[in-house]
Amino acid sequence: METRPILFFDSGIGGLSVVKEARILLPRRPYVYVADDAAFPYGAWEEGALLERMVGLFAELLETYRPVMSVIACNTASTLAIHRLREAFPGETFVGTVPAIKPAAERTRSGLVSVLATPGTVKRQYTRDLIRDYAAKCHVRLVGSENLAALAEQYMREGHVDEAAVEREIAPCFVEQDGKRTDIVVLACTHYPFLVNRMRKTAPWPVDWIDTSEAIARRALALSANLPPPSSDGNGQDIAHFTSGAPVEGYRRLVTGFGFIAR
Ligand code: DGL
Repeated sequence: METRPILFFDSGIGGLSVVKEARILLPRRPYVYVADDAAFPYGAWEEGALLERMVGLFAELLETYRPVMSVIACNTASTLAIHRLREAFPGETFVGTVPAIKPAAERTRSGLVSVLATPGTVKRQYTRDLIRDYAAKCHVRLVGSENLAALAEQYMREGHVDEAAVEREIAPCFVEQDGKRTDIVVLACTHYPFLVNRMRKTAPWPVDWIDTSEAIARRALALSANLPPPSSDGNGQDIAHFTSGAPVEGYRRLVTGFGFIAR
């Protein structure tokens, strides 16, 4: 029987979009949710400094929680650090989250695809390599949004968001070219699925919004097939760890709704 948890990691509360799917596929595993809220937003960090921070933080988290698997439920963090984390902690299992460029390229009919992400993710070599390897025949527009992750956090905490602000952030995703239009927008930040209804409402025309949360949970499920069965009945107390030690108002209530007790 396995008592060690699956650790989910994000800069904030966006990774809860992955937890939501994982709770369906892996209901009996104990979970730990880690929000590096002391460093939010990751999208604005310089790469070297963020990499150093993440490796240091994982050394502590792996020691404290001894997870069976760590799901990096954050594109900004994964596209920067997934290879480095695997190198630094070779005995550990990491599941990464990367922009769904390959499925978007396979699915588009117009050939115009937009990738909506943080400024960090759109800058990454990892993201550029995905486009080169899988979407060379498409026109891919990378849209780095300064504010959407924070708007998603606000929406999750307070239940409302400025729709005009969402509309402004997504507007550059919509391209018309030679009589064709963007038909797919990749949600390449785990915060964004929480705002997808607002995005649909404010979009200038209908598109497919690709959300990878379920695919990430499926990957965790596939890897968990190699583990001993969980000893938890699914009713144990899961922990949410905020690196600030003092999460802003509304976070505690929010994580409780996802089955965690805030630390
Ligand atoms: N949730 C993170 C992602 O998937 C990013 C939010 C941030 O800027 O920290 O990219």
